[in-house]
Amino acid sequence: MKTMALILGLVLSVSSISFADDIADFANKNCVKCHDESSGFPNLSAQTPDYLFRSLKDYQGGLRHSDNATTLMYKRVQAIDDLTLLGLANYFNQQPAAAPTDGDPALIVTGKDIYENGVPAQAVVACIICHGDKAEGLGTSPRLASQLHDFVVEQLQNYKNGLVDNQKRMSTYSSQLSDEQMDAVATYLQSLP
Ligand code: HEC
Ligand code: HEC
Repeated sequence: MKTMALILGLVLSVSSISFADDIADFANKNCVKCHDESSGFPNLSAQTPDYLFRSLKDYQGGLRHSDNATTLMYKRVQAIDDLTLLGLANYFNQQPAAAPTDGDPALIVTGKDIYENGVPAQAVVACIICHGDKAEGLGTSPRLASQLHDFVVEQLQNYKNGLVDNQKRMSTYSSQLSDEQMDAVATYLQSLP
């Protein structure tokens, strides 16, 4: 993590305006058509740079196995060098976060409780510990605020079904959550700014 921050700092300080322009151009041509707010694919805006870089390396290394990962993401990142991946991570981090979406108030209350307190009876630790007070993300723990409900549920199911390598704890937590609890926590997260 420290090394990542260092490298990123270095890239940012030495990056010229034309590098930033090139990255924005690259992102618009290759990524934004799927990752815009209306596509139904995950929001990347305001995501932590550490998580963005790490997940891109994981797609490159073939460590995520969902159908969407293998059919849609792998080939998009295969040929991209690390400097460009860092540039992309920084670029998406700088974009304004997606707007929150309202949901069923009862689900939001249940979801907030799971997020802040976990589910002790099912040995599920409070999400807030790693994902932050406002679900803003911390380092390689991703931002979850205003993330699409369906993507949050899908990822929790992917962890539960063992389709995501290179993470230690999410499989354990998600395997303890029922479908209803996933729905509630995803509804809560989508409602956060
Ligand atoms: C054809 C549509 C498509 C294109 C083009 C695309 N992506 Fe994706 N991306 C997806 C899908 C679908 C997922 C979810 C995959 C999964 O199940 O892990 C994803 C996941 C991601 C994730 C992980 C998000 C998270 O919160 O876990 C990152 C980061 C990402 N993409 C970055 C990029 C970048 C950078 C580019 C351009 C080089 C790009 N994507 C191009 C469809 C696309
Ligand atoms: C011990 C720290 C920790 C706790 C507690 C935790 N998470 Fe995570 N979570 C992570 C990390 C680290 C990742 C990234 C894993 C990876 O790289 O695939 C992650 C990934 C996720 C993702 C995928 C997001 C994306 O953009 O792909 C979701 C959704 C998620 N967590 C939801 C939750 C929920 C809901 C809870 C509480 C029930 C929770 N997490 C508890 C550390 C944690």
